Amino acid sequence: MPLEFPSPHEIDRLIGSYAYRDSRHPQSASTHNIVTNWFAARYGAGSCIDEQPFATGDHGDIQNARQNHIVSRAFSGKTLLVGEGNFSFTASLVFGHHVIPMSITSTIHENSRDISDDAKINARKLSRAGVTVFDNVDATHLDRTSHFQKFDTIIFQFPNAGSREPNRGHNPNHVLVRRFLRSAAEHLLQDGEIIVTVINSSYYDGRFRMDEAAEYAGLKNLYAISFFPGDFPSYSHVNTNDEDSALKEHQSFETWVLQP
Ligand SMILES: C[S@@+](CC[C@H](N)C(=O)[O-])C[C@H]1O[C@@H](n2cnc3c(N)ncnc32)[C@H](O)[C@@H]1O
Repeated sequence: MPLEFPSPHEIDRLIGSYAYRDSRHPQSASTHNIVTNWFAARYGAGSCIDEQPFATGDHGDIQNARQNHIVSRAFSGKTLLVGEGNFSFTASLVFGHHVIPMSITSTIHENSRDISDDAKINARKLSRAGVTVFDNVDATHLDRTSHFQKFDTIIFQFPNAGSREPNRGHNPNHVLVRRFLRSAAEHLLQDGEIIVTVINSSYYDGRFRMDEAAEYAGLKNLYAISFFPGDFPSYSHVNTNDEDSALKEHQSFETWVLQP
């Protein structure tokens, strides 16, 4: 008797299960097989997770997708992206690195009526592939979005408050990041991680003051790794207001990894 093809809902449930997330679980291998085969059947053999080719970065290095910290985190559980702008980073994870769409929730702060055509196209493509897409999500108040449960990884690429006005004497970007970290910390599953990518310069370090923000949010473990935009080929960074494009104007970026 042929096996019934699992529904997207069933695959989503499996991805969230302990059997999928804990490699020591007795059904870990069979659950991974079901999920991998489902994606291969639905999107073609090329999308089989374990057969992904290498991705080539702008920096000339050939990097296995799984060696990129953000990609490997996105492969290993439920991921929430906030402040996604035009959704192109999420699109790169899903269509470039073949991260499982059902495990991703991708959000923007803006109302979808006010976003660019590119952003609308990306949102539609992601939604059709199985990504959960929301607008009007304030990263500093994730509790206000009632459908948000908890995630293994919460990502904010290049946070920018879009204002230069100090907020109670603090830089607005520092305030944005620390409030985001505090809110995100409340929405992490066990062993969860928060990931924030920023420009690597003393000027930006002074604006974000990541270590202080982490302490404010009660996050203890903090380290930074280099971020290479070329690892995400279709990622076209969105600017805030009229500011210069961080990816075009700067050479060096860092991804902060924060854990409770
Ligand atoms: C420099 S853009 C980066 C956009 C996108 N992450 C990227 O890498 O292309 C900064 C983003 O932060 C978002 N943002 C600012 N305040 C926010 C908040 N309170 N909650 C969620 N996103 C916010 C803006 O809407 C904007 O899209």
